[in-house]
Amino acid sequence: MTAAGILRAVPATVIVGAQWGDEGKGKIVDLLARDSDLVCRYNGGPNAGHTIVADGETYKLRHMPSGILWGKECVIGAGCVVDPGVFIEELDEFESRGISTELVRLSGNAHVIMPWHLAIDQAGERRLGKLQIGTTRRGIGPTYADKAYRLGIRLQDLFDPKILRQKIEVALAEKNVWLERVYGVDPIELEELAGRYEGHAQRLRPYLADTSLLVDRALRDGKHVLLEGAHGTLLDIDHGTYPFVTSSPTVAGGATTGIGIGPTRIDAVIGVTKAYVTRVGAGPFPTEIEGPEQQRVRELGGEFGTVTGRERRCGWLDLIALRYAVRLNARYELRDGTLTDEFPAHQSDFHHCRPVYETLPGWGEPLDGDELPDAARRYVEFVEHELDVEVCLVGTGAERERVLRRGAEAIAG
Ligand code: IMO
Ligand code: MG
Repeated sequence: MTAAGILRAVPATVIVGAQWGDEGKGKIVDLLARDSDLVCRYNGGPNAGHTIVADGETYKLRHMPSGILWGKECVIGAGCVVDPGVFIEELDEFESRGISTELVRLSGNAHVIMPWHLAIDQAGERRLGKLQIGTTRRGIGPTYADKAYRLGIRLQDLFDPKILRQKIEVALAEKNVWLERVYGVDPIELEELAGRYEGHAQRLRPYLADTSLLVDRALRDGKHVLLEGAHGTLLDIDHGTYPFVTSSPTVAGGATTGIGIGPTRIDAVIGVTKAYVTRVGAGPFPTEIEGPEQQRVRELGGEFGTVTGRERRCGWLDLIALRYAVRLNARYELRDGTLTDEFPAHQSDFHHCRPVYETLPGWGEPLDGDELPDAARRYVEFVEHELDVEVCLVGTGAERERVLRRGAEAIAG
């Protein structure tokens, strides 16, 4: 399918980060959301931070799908984890800025980030010291762990005070032992917590829906659905640079399980990448820039975390890593001096590999015209050639309108 085709009329499109997150997915989703009917988040929680600049206003989204700014129906699927306090703050913020949240829909199967998840994420990272993952400390890992352990609390549980109290009690019997004896922090008190979450339930009730059914019906009715992946391919729990990953499936396939639709329903996948690479937190990063140039890239790109404000680590575009996401040809030199075209299957090889660079001419001109400067255009063409993919959109700045569409058929904005 051509780039223009993808952008014109595809019923179910997945947008996915092709690096370690922060690729600018929110901006691309926002751009395509205008012509879509439904925008859905399928994984992760408030560890995501999507910044959208529209009409001079900056919006920072945490749980909320990026379609909210176009007034579209927005779904938070079963594969997500939700921190009710953070989500309610987001709702209030949008409402106070005149953006309706009336069409937001929450899956009752999404798991709830509870205060003990935050406490364990924070204390656990502290305890790991130098070995820490560098998580966003938003309780993501412990929440997904409890989901798999079948000790989790789902959004639907919040609406029955008796069940809620019982589930909190069962969880606390175990979590408080951990908190006090393993991490040496204060235990959590049942009554105050149950009351607070019953309060959250009142506020969340209007948003609860059977989101799998809703998306399925929309697709059957021929509506256009955007499925917005959070984080990035290399942070995927199964295929990323484990253990330096997040705890959910970030790859496109996660959209089907995270929403509750079959894989044959997906029509197109768009991967989002930057012209360079960033990574937040610990973990191997072969093309990380050494020396003062890293700081220069960070400042030019405004590479500071949306969620934690941390400095993002910056590196040159890594075609091997991108190939792992989109099938390309490039090379790494392994410890024994051999060259490889493949993303190393073994974590230690990835830790020790050295990139083999190709240097392309840069450009100094601002990217605010209707066309890319020659050197920038050649850079994009080089990436297209190496990856054997079509680059359909090139973002040139944070604002909504700073994007160039490519290809002969590219449609007008
Ligand atoms: P968006 O959607 C960048 C990273 C964290 C950490 C690791 C695990 O904004 O692109 P977690 O809190 O998820 O357990 O942390 O994953 N990480 C991200 N880095 N952008 C993100 O999301 C990220 N989500 C998680 O920095 O290294
Ligand atoms: Mg982010």
